[in-house]
Amino acid sequence: MTEIIDGDAVAAEIRDELREGIEALADAGERPGLATVLMSDDPASETYVSMKQRDCEEVGIEGVHVELDADAPAEELYDTVEELNDDPDVHGILVQMPVPDHVDDRRVLRSIDPEKDVDGFHPENVGRMVAGDARFKPCTPHGVQKLLEAADVETEGAEAVVVGRSDIVGKPMANLLVQKAPLGNATTTVCHSRTEDLAAHTRRADVVIAAAGVPEMIDGSMLTEGATVIDVGVNRVEADTEKGYELVGDVDFESATGTAGAITPVPGGVGPMTRAMLLYNTVKAASRQSGVAVDLP
Ligand code: GUN
Repeated sequence: MTEIIDGDAVAAEIRDELREGIEALADAGERPGLATVLMSDDPASETYVSMKQRDCEEVGIEGVHVELDADAPAEELYDTVEELNDDPDVHGILVQMPVPDHVDDRRVLRSIDPEKDVDGFHPENVGRMVAGDARFKPCTPHGVQKLLEAADVETEGAEAVVVGRSDIVGKPMANLLVQKAPLGNATTTVCHSRTEDLAAHTRRADVVIAAAGVPEMIDGSMLTEGATVIDVGVNRVEADTEKGYELVGDVDFESATGTAGAITPVPGGVGPMTRAMLLYNTVKAASRQSGVAVDLP
């Protein structure tokens, strides 16, 4: 029997606990604020950002959304970030990635006030996380840790294989898994597009984190019996549906089910957790900036 790890349910629990923190802030006259900035015509990015705004509204976070034309001058985005840095009602800033090619994405990430960097992508925050003193853990890897915890998966001493080496997921995920800390202490391998024999690595893994962005690249034959499989992939593939596409993960769910001991579905696995951890970081940011102590889940 393969356990299906229900990300929607775990995310709902986290949101419930965050509401208590938001109330504690409200009692002190503070309302957490999150600014999202979108400079893209990509329909998937538009959907992600609108879901993040909807989440804010649902839990009582003040959402501010700034939308820039994808062909606007890069300076408009740099100026927007500066304005949001200076706005005391905005505790968290998220610039949806990727930004257009004519924008220097590194400059954008460096220009966000590290205290408002709820993505955890600013080099100062990356450095702090690597040093084991995270201010804001990046939302997706943090959400994966929360899923592993909820599913009672022991990472200590486990063989963990992360497939994918992005700055947003793969690298920080591997980093958290090797840390000498709860939900870390795993013997961690990072595989990527130049890995010679991916299956040889994944077959050894007690925990597989698939974050390569390649539809259904990992199937049941690449897993060991009982492995925990966390599928970070969200890929739109053409399908005979109303929208003309369907969402699939990086794992071939059907073939992995049966071999895996536990697996996350797509959708309904990691996606809702990423969004919940963004709310978590926003509440944390508001607590740090206001000096009002808050219990976090
Ligand atoms: N694009 C894809 N995932 C993310 C994320 O977690 N944060 C931001 N800012 N952009 C993204």
